Amino acid sequence: LNYLTPKSRQEVLDLLVTGLKRLEYRGYDSTGVAIDSPDNKNIVMVKRTGKVKVLEEAIQEHFSGGEYSKPVLTHVGIAHTRWATHGVPCERNSHPHRSDDGNGFVVVHNGIITNYNDVKTFLAKRGYEFESDTDTEVFAKLVHHLWKTHPTYSFRELVEQAILQVEGAFAIAVKSKYFPGECVASRRSSPLLVGIKTKTRLATDHIPILYGKDEKKLSPDQVLPRSESTSEFMPLEEKEVEYFFASDASAVIEHTNRVIYLEDDDVAAVRDGTLSIHRLKKSLDDPHAREITTLKMEIQQIMKGNYDYFMQKEIFEQPDSVVNTMRGRVRFDGNAIVLGGIKDYIPEIKRCRRLMLIGCGTSYHSAVATRQLLEELTELPVMVELASDFLDRNTPIFRDDVCFFISQSGETADTLMALRYCKQRGALIVGITNTVGSSICRESHCGVHINAGPEIGVASTKAYTSQFISLVMFALVMSEDRLSLQQRRLEILQALSNLADQIRAVLQLDSKVQELAKDLYQHKSLLIMGRGYNFATCLEGALKVKELTYMHSEGIMAGELKHGPLALVDDSMPVLMIVLRDPVYVKCMNALQQVTSRKGCPIIICEEGDEETKAFSSRHLEIPRTVDCLQGILTVIPMQLLSYHIAVLRGCDVDCPRNLAKSVTVE
Ligand code: G6P
Repeated sequence: LNYLTPKSRQEVLDLLVTGLKRLEYRGYDSTGVAIDSPDNKNIVMVKRTGKVKVLEEAIQEHFSGGEYSKPVLTHVGIAHTRWATHGVPCERNSHPHRSDDGNGFVVVHNGIITNYNDVKTFLAKRGYEFESDTDTEVFAKLVHHLWKTHPTYSFRELVEQAILQVEGAFAIAVKSKYFPGECVASRRSSPLLVGIKTKTRLATDHIPILYGKDEKKLSPDQVLPRSESTSEFMPLEEKEVEYFFASDASAVIEHTNRVIYLEDDDVAAVRDGTLSIHRLKKSLDDPHAREITTLKMEIQQIMKGNYDYFMQKEIFEQPDSVVNTMRGRVRFDGNAIVLGGIKDYIPEIKRCRRLMLIGCGTSYHSAVATRQLLEELTELPVMVELASDFLDRNTPIFRDDVCFFISQSGETADTLMALRYCKQRGALIVGITNTVGSSICRESHCGVHINAGPEIGVASTKAYTSQFISLVMFALVMSEDRLSLQQRRLEILQALSNLADQIRAVLQLDSKVQELAKDLYQHKSLLIMGRGYNFATCLEGALKVKELTYMHSEGIMAGELKHGPLALVDDSMPVLMIVLRDPVYVKCMNALQQVTSRKGCPIIICEEGDEETKAFSSRHLEIPRTVDCLQGILTVIPMQLLSYHIAVLRGCDVDCPRNLAKSVTVE
């Protein structure tokens, strides 16, 4: 919405397309945009299969010059980049979805409407015909149905009534030709924020919430009572203002760093240049206003700089990102660690029955990587769980459990559902996330921000090493007053202080790894073996290879080799083995010999100058020596580089692997 300086529709479209590009990492199989026609009487939509670039070209074809270049004062445009959940990626299924041929209401949606079949049946009986296979389309048509049956409703009330009828997860933005210059947005379980750009700073840092009368959920064919809000719209004092609704701050950061994170079931409406936030019901612990937060993120952080890909940039940022994770928390001189976000909860955590670490994908691997150290330094049972499986099992949870939810985005639906499940059962919830203001952050009792900086590449790299370090720091805090563990703690702290330089040294292997990638990229499969502290690297390395190169890859616990995987080994199967001088060295050497005696010729990751191990293969990568429990940070980097180079050689889209999305906000 633009009241700040007049903008042409072309400029509005540019703004939307740039916003989509910043969000592309969340999904990129089809895109679309909707703006008003030059006479303001209709809504024009353009949709394309493929990435935002394809949409950008189509927009240039459709909208350059003429009426579209004339400046207007107020305008609403909506746009979307999709990661298909219901219906294949194609133009027909891409957003915005519309209520009718006349584009009365158009909707963009992130999430899944789980009861869409019921709503669809209801609407089909009333003559609505559906043109896509998506769940989203029902929402546009439902709003239209409500508009027809309740002509006196405001736009905000229509959307409010519609969200009462839908179940599942959504962040939704609606535009209508019947309400020009207005936009209504709402969320439930999927993230949504409002960016506010003003010429001068607003007189308030809070937007008051308006409440309606307590209303029962009704079926859509019942005559819905008009909600009675305390007042209609609460204008901001500043009139010249642009508002942005987005599912992630990266889409708005180049316009403003002032945002409001909406809560579940908030309905935010913009009309006549004013923003109001409305809720149907007031519950006891509701705050009376939503706060405007100032983001610290800088636009440069979400640009590629001199790198070819975001992933490459993020791999090479690791010497800095690990330091940022420790900054202000670890005092190497006094051997002290303070984690401000959980310090008040440490006594409670120390009394707990067990620690549970829960996450998905790479975040789960950071839990696997640090479990052993947590067991050692906390002397508590530590369970490591995949969020989806944890929920499937209805795992028993007790009030004296401490549950860690690890998530880069802080929005992964499976992890968030698991968090709510544990919270309901009275456990203490600790969030480990990279995204300030994310749902997991806000719903946790306490937590640690990993401070790795924005991660854009779909395959996670620097977030993994920062999650790893955050959990190590937690283990160190828990063992602060254990005399018997002081020597061990010192050894780890010492290693942490050298880590950035050692990561730099590992990154120097880049060209050597690229050469290895040339040997491997045409193969069908890659086995990665290790054990102990390095098993997580095997899992994470294999995930990176799968995600980025579409090659089959498996992380194998070396101890399990003889129980099955050894059958895969012959002279043509590529094998990578991690063999470091730690307590499992001898066992790893056994595995290495088992592989070589089956004519396997493994690539070995070993410690610098370890001639004895190197002798087993002509291909090896040497990494600096560090304390056993931090080896995983140094061993994962060659794996990140290897998967990156194989992906480039295979011509894959490194930052946007097929079929994947960075932040999976649907179950
Ligand atoms: C998706 C991504 C993975 C990521 C996982 C967990 O599947 O493709 O790379 O590890 O989600 O994401 P989170 O944001 O919760 O760490």
